[in-house]
Amino acid sequence: MNYEKFMHRAISNANLYKFTAKPNPVVGAILIKGEKIISEGYHEIFGQNHAEINAINNAKKKIDKEFKSFSELVLICTLEPCSHVGKTGSCAQAIAKTGIKKVVIGSIDPNPLVSGNGIKILEENGIQVEKGICSDLVERQNRFFFFKQKNMRPYLTVKIASSADGKSHLNNTERTIITSEASRDDVQILRAERDAILTGGNTLRSDNPRMNARVSFASNQPKKILLSSKEFNKNEFQFFNEDSVDVHTSSNLEEVINFYKNSDLCSILIEAGPSLVKSFIETDMVDEIIVYTSKKILGEKGVNWFDKNKTIENYGFKLESSYKIDQDIKQTFVRNEKK
Ligand SMILES: NC(=O)c1ccc[n+]([C@@H]2O[C@H](COP(=O)([O-])OP(=O)(O)OC[C@H]3O[C@@H](n4cnc5c(N)ncnc54)[C@H](OP(=O)(O)O)[C@@H]3O)[C@@H](O)[C@H]2O)c1
Repeated sequence: MNYEKFMHRAISNANLYKFTAKPNPVVGAILIKGEKIISEGYHEIFGQNHAEINAINNAKKKIDKEFKSFSELVLICTLEPCSHVGKTGSCAQAIAKTGIKKVVIGSIDPNPLVSGNGIKILEENGIQVEKGICSDLVERQNRFFFFKQKNMRPYLTVKIASSADGKSHLNNTERTIITSEASRDDVQILRAERDAILTGGNTLRSDNPRMNARVSFASNQPKKILLSSKEFNKNEFQFFNEDSVDVHTSSNLEEVINFYKNSDLCSILIEAGPSLVKSFIETDMVDEIIVYTSKKILGEKGVNWFDKNKTIENYGFKLESSYKIDQDIKQTFVRNEKK
């Protein structure tokens, strides 16, 4: 049997939920009888049913109509069914209870501590398991989740808006808008894709930003993270409008990021000014830098992003993609040695 076409379908349909399942991975599951699809299930909303459970529940509505017993069905799932009893119970145990006899898995769980445990439960219950079908696609669609599980820290993206002469902002207290509306809309999507937004105290004091994801589709809002040694009146700053804000008073950036190693967060977008961005880049923890460059010149009153004669490439990054957004250029740089 060619399971790849069903795996492709499960992977692409799972993607519909990438903004509402996060920070969980997107997962799809399909139950088939021979070549016929009996039911499908997806992990649609963080904290709610996993994909396999939704597929099983949807199939139950068709029992005695399209099939008699779950033993006639094969379950296709993009990611190894979980073994742990988390918010929703162990999926591997729930699958075993139905009497399903064969499970086809895209990728095994990347977390070395639990990887293979779901498969073990299935096999101990006499279920035949086939794995590694389109695993590279599953990994690519859940790149932040896989990164976090393998590296025990969230994937870090720095976003900067730069003038044509390499400046971040004007050296006064006024908020400086550098890029076009289209670029700023694009940043909203970067925010929606990530699990958290991080900034520093100076940016908060000078810009009073909201730093939420203002997009036209349903999305879980990113957690907000503030690095500041100073006190803030939470009623004065829009950053605190949403309930989920972590404040770190430590300026030790490894310590701050390490704080999230056992959390749900798989990705953080750093939206700060030159001093915090530079400190982050110098730690070697930054995985990606996204630069929006406009045609504006800020001149002598502008504050440089980087020291003279230092480019992003000098910090050990290489250009991965570059294209125009309205009058601006969006460039994505990734760390030279891929993790
Ligand atoms: N063009 C853009 O894309 C962009 C984006 C964001 C901001 N900005 C501009 O950047 C300006 C502020 O830049 P900035 O870099 O001075 O402020 P920042 O983004 O707030 O970062 C510096 C602040 O972060 C905190 N911090 C904690 N640990 C740190 C560490 N290890 N290294 C450095 N800072 C640490 C400190 O806050 P405390 O002082 O509160 O302790 C420090 O003052 C604003 O005018 C804003 O408009 C531009």
